[in-house]
This record gives sequence, C-alpha cells and structure tokens, in this order.
Amino acid sequence: PKAEFVADLIAKMTLDEKIGQLNLPTSGDITTGAANSSNVAKNIEEGKVGGLFNIKSAQKIREVQKVAVEKSRLKIPLLFGMDVIHGYETTFPIPLGLSCTWDMKLIERSAQIAAQEASADGINWTFSPMVDISRDPRWGRVSEGSGEDAYLGSQIAKAMVNGYQQDDLSKNNSILSCVKHFALYGASEAGRDYNTVDMSRIKMYNDYFPPYKAAVDAGAGSVMASFNEVDGIPATGNKWLMTDVLRKEWGFKGFVVTDYTGIPEMMAHGVGDLQTVSALALNAGIEMDMVGEGFLTTLKKSLAENKVTIEQIDNAVRLILNAKYDLGLFQDPYKYCDVKRAKTEIFTSSNRLEARNIAAQSLVLLKNEKQLLPLKKSGTIAVIGPLADAKENMAGTWSVATNMDKSISLIAGIKEVAANANVLYAKGSNLDYYAAFEEKATMFGKTLHRDGRTKEVLLAEALKIANQSDIIVAALGESAEMSGESSSRTNLEIPQAQKDLLQELLKTGKPVVLVLFTGRPLVLVQENETVPAILNTWFAGSEAGSAIADVLFGDENPSGKLTATFPRSVGQVPIYYSHKNTGRPIGNKEGKFEKFKSNYIDERNEPLYPFGFGLSYTTFDYSNLKISSEKINFNEKINVSVEVSNTGNYEGKEVVQLYLRDVVGSVTRPVKELKGFQKIALKRGEKQTVTFEISSEDLKFYNSDLEFVAETGKFEAFIGGSSDTENKVGFELNK
Ligand code: IFM
Repeated sequence: PKAEFVADLIAKMTLDEKIGQLNLPTSGDITTGAANSSNVAKNIEEGKVGGLFNIKSAQKIREVQKVAVEKSRLKIPLLFGMDVIHGYETTFPIPLGLSCTWDMKLIERSAQIAAQEASADGINWTFSPMVDISRDPRWGRVSEGSGEDAYLGSQIAKAMVNGYQQDDLSKNNSILSCVKHFALYGASEAGRDYNTVDMSRIKMYNDYFPPYKAAVDAGAGSVMASFNEVDGIPATGNKWLMTDVLRKEWGFKGFVVTDYTGIPEMMAHGVGDLQTVSALALNAGIEMDMVGEGFLTTLKKSLAENKVTIEQIDNAVRLILNAKYDLGLFQDPYKYCDVKRAKTEIFTSSNRLEARNIAAQSLVLLKNEKQLLPLKKSGTIAVIGPLADAKENMAGTWSVATNMDKSISLIAGIKEVAANANVLYAKGSNLDYYAAFEEKATMFGKTLHRDGRTKEVLLAEALKIANQSDIIVAALGESAEMSGESSSRTNLEIPQAQKDLLQELLKTGKPVVLVLFTGRPLVLVQENETVPAILNTWFAGSEAGSAIADVLFGDENPSGKLTATFPRSVGQVPIYYSHKNTGRPIGNKEGKFEKFKSNYIDERNEPLYPFGFGLSYTTFDYSNLKISSEKINFNEKINVSVEVSNTGNYEGKEVVQLYLRDVVGSVTRPVKELKGFQKIALKRGEKQTVTFEISSEDLKFYNSDLEFVAETGKFEAFIGGSSDTENKVGFELNK
C-alpha cells in the first residue's frame, strides 16, 4: 500500500509541487519558534515546502501543519526537524560525554527519552546521531560525536538510531533519525571547521565509514551530507559517496538531506554556478535541499535542459513521501502535535532523574591523588570558578530545546547533595577565552557576559573564601560555546586567566579538586602535575550540577572512560591510540628521544590520558589472561578471558576492553584496535571472569582492493582497563 499510495500521489503532482517536496527551509527564530516571515507560510500554501526545522512547540507546529494540510492543493503534511542532539528539554551530556559511559543501554535510553519529549512537542525528525570520527580536538565538533574509534562509534550509532526510531516509526513517540555528516567531516585539515578533507579510501573504509554504515544498518531513515569535500568533490555533489557507497554498497533506502546551504556552498568550493551545483547534487543522490533553495530555483530549468531527469526528481519525491508515510503523517498529520502530551511528557521528574544518572556515568576521573575524592559532606567547601554558577553552560553545544534557566549549576548541585556542608562561592576569574570571542559570542540569542570587575578583585574575593575553607572545588574550563560548530581552537589549554586562578588557589595549600568543563580533549599537563584531583565533566546536561555532586561526594562512583585521546601538546594532534607502527618506531617507553626514529625532539609520543582511560574510587586488578586456543580457523571462534577483581574500598563499575593486533598483514595494520568491551559492576573484594569471543569475522579489515577480509597469520589479544594495556596473549589464524 505504501508504494501504491506514494506512486498515486506523485502522479497527481505538478513539477513545481514535486520540487517543493525537496525543499527544507528553516523556520526562523529557534528561541521563539515563530514560523518565519510570510514567505515560508506562502510557500507552504503553494506546495513549495517539504518540511521545516527548528520550530519549537506542539502548538506552533500544529498551526504550520494546518497550513500544509488545509491550504495546499495536495494537502501533503510536512516533516518537522530539529537538532535534538543530546536530549530535548531534559538534556543529556554532550555526545562525547555520553560516549564515555560505554553503556549502550543508557545511550539508547537517552535517545528514546529525547524522542519521547521531542515527539510530544511536534518534532518528528532529528538531525542525530552525529557519528563523525574525529582524532583532532582542535575541531570544535568533536564534542558532538563519539570520539576517535570506529568500533565504539558504530555501537553507539546503532544504539542512538534504535533509541530514536525504536524499530517502528508508526509509534507516536518514535522519530525519524538522520545520521550525519556523511562523510568524513571530522577529518578536516588542521581541525578547522568546514576545511578540506583528504583521505585514502582504505582509511575511509577501515576507520571513518563504519559508524555511518552501522547507523544505516540499524535502519536510520535519513542521512545528512557533510560540508567538506571527499576525494576532491564536495560530499553534497559526490555521486561515488551518495550513490555507489551509500545506496549500492550499503543498501540505504531512505533519503539524503544537505547540511544547511550545502548546495550553494558548492559554488564557493568552485564546482559551478547554482544551477550546475544543484543538478550535481540531485545527480549525486541528494533528495532534500536544506535552506539552499538551489533545487527550488533551478531544477525546472535543468530538467528542461536535460541536465536532470524527471525520474530522478520523482525518485527523490518518492523517498521523502515514503518517510512521511512511515511516520504515519498521511493518516494523522497532527500525530505529534498533542498539546496534552507536550504538557505532561517533557522535562518530567522521572526523565530528569534518568538524565542525572546518565550524566553521572559520563564523568571521567582523570586523577585522584591520595584518594582526595570522594569528599565529605561536611566542613567548609569553597566552590570557585567562572563555571561554578553557570546554568547557561551546563548543557553544552546544540542544546536547541534546553531551557537553560532550569539547568542545575554546580553550586546548586553541591548545595543539594551536601546540604549540611558550609558551601561558599566566588567566581574567581572571567572565562577569558579571549575578550573578542566572549563579547561577541552569542548562541540562540544568549550573550556571554564578562564580569566588569578586574582580575585582581575577582582573585581577592576567591582567595578570601579559599582561605576559610577545608577544601577548594575549582570549576574551570571551556564555556559551552567554545566547542561545537564553528568553534575550532589552536590552543587546547584551559584559558589563561583560569589557569592563573588555579595556580593561585593551589598556593593556599588547601586541597584542590579541579572540576573540568570541556567539549573536547584539552591539554592538561600543568594541571595534571599540580592539582591532586581532576574530574572531567564535559557538559553533562540539564542535570549536570546534581550529577557532578553525586560523584564528588561518592553517592556515585565514577566509571566513565575516555573515548578520545587527551594529548600532551597540541603539536601531537592528530593523536589516537589505533595508530600504525611505522618503519621506525621508538624502542623505549620512558619517552626518551631517539634520533632517526619516529618521535619528537621536544615531546614524547604518548598522550597525557589515553583512549579508554578513566579512574574509579576503587581499584581493579586484571589477572589470569587466558585464551581457549592459540589457533583459530576461518569460521571458528575462540575465547579470551581475564579475571577482574575489585581490590579497593568501594563498589564500582569497570569497562573491560578487548583490543586486537593483526601482527602481519598485506597492508599495514594498527598497533591495536578495540574489538569488544563489557561494563561490569563489582562489589568490594568481588572477582569476575570476563570472557570475549573472537571469531574470524572480528579479524577482518579492508585490504588495498577494498575487500573486507581476514588474513592468516599472527594476532595478539589485549584485555585491560585502558588502551595502553600491555596485558596480552597471542594466537594464529589458519586456513
Ligand atoms: O544539523 C545541523 C548540522 O549539524 C550543522 N548545520 C545545521 C544543521 C541543521 O541545524
């Protein structure tokens, strides 16, 4: 019935109406949700709009949908999209933080709650998950993805798609997902947003494509093209990418939308005028034009000039109408506009409770000398720093639907959790990224305000309360706007004014806990040397302050593990654990320079904190690594196991990680690749044997002919609590 219904509808459409379905304008004001000027309304009436995005509230969306289904000739309902990236009003940690939970059930649940709330407020399509692998923390959008690893990124991509779509788009609380940004957006040269990407195909297939493919395999209904070029052709006009890879190799059946003005931007890329690039996009396999209006204004002419075909236009319309059909919009265009649901299902106390728990699981304990943490819920605690009382900075980037006023700041969280302690607060310094940025930075209408007081006055106030306290909690790092889209950095340190403040606080001799806020891996060499305890909290969402306090005071034991490497120096970037060995690897682990070997004269090769790293209040011991057989044949399986014991004083969770190394290959292979992980909970003194199954499938990779193969020969299996584990056993794959 779907195919017939859609074909019948297409048969009734004029060319203008068809092209109209391919047009996705923005609604205008995100914060008020007001439908943009009369133009959009008029275009909807005339059948020139297929969907709208970033309009907020069930009530307003109902009004706009009404125009489509009552005033347009064919009454085709609209899609309503939004960047529901890490939650809706109940906001979860930024995706990079969420990935550090390594908990696929929780990640899926966060997407499900996001879908529940968004769908209650009129939204039926989210521009998520963002699955771009990135190994370059200069790139601000590293915050929006799941880090550096293809295997972990693929598991998360699948969990997110399942959470949003719940395998059934006809439900009223599931929404269409859009995997983005296809492809390779996270590999922009020099970490500068929108910059050129140049990568070998073998690297694309092995290291960057898997998460997109995993999302497609999980049934993601739509894909967003990336802004960058791939192999010299902008992704938006790249037929190899959009048709050969996405549709022919991967079997994608949904529709592809551009990222914003991706079509007209191809003019600046230098591949033609608006008519040429619009035809290029359609020919490549793009169905929907977000904001660019290249399709709307040129496709008719291109058809007349035989630059595109009516079959291509019909096919694009069909894929978009299919999605509307799958969402049930033809049956009930107001399916997602139930004002009652909007009142009862958004930002509920139970959703917030889940968000608080998920946020706590995303925090990563980077250092904890002499078990300074957890803190006692008594005595005098000085909470100092520009991020201590900063509700507007808790949710992080792309928090389109978040009501920042309702976010829990760190100071509010601490006062709630340690109600009997004497909690003092001082700002201590400005965020001070650099003045021009702070003054100009606005996001969704919110302006960052610098404190007019001088550095000296702010410091004196901070030192006064620091000296009265038993412990100092320093809330420092990036503001939310310092990461995310168009927020690339060349300096990866905590802003200087805050670093200075931290050193002054340390001089008081009081114990200092650094509660770090960041949207990217930072360079923390000085902090790691001087501060006894560092808890990295990312931007943990609307419940951030409560979740951080839960961890600081030991109600939750931290269990997050890094999913992106923290470098020692920006000069090491790009840096990632699954690098190649090179022909001249260094032979020492102490970081000593070796002439004519692959290293630096002024920095060691290893990062400060590796991928997979994260401490707990307890300690875990790994022993008795065993393999069921040292030989494996094709289509066979073997087991590797290890005993993990909780040897400390708290119950806790540990992410047990399996890495494989293909020692000899027809192409060079990484020194280690994540191939499995299990998050286990152990009581004090408890021990558990953790077993991973390895099959020849796990040994496959793309060779230089881009065939997915396993090759006979030696392998090594590593199991540990971080990617730098040396705990390994060998085995061999035979014919
Ligand atoms: O979804 C986003 C994308 O990630 C960046 N450009 C704008 C889109 C829509 O808001």
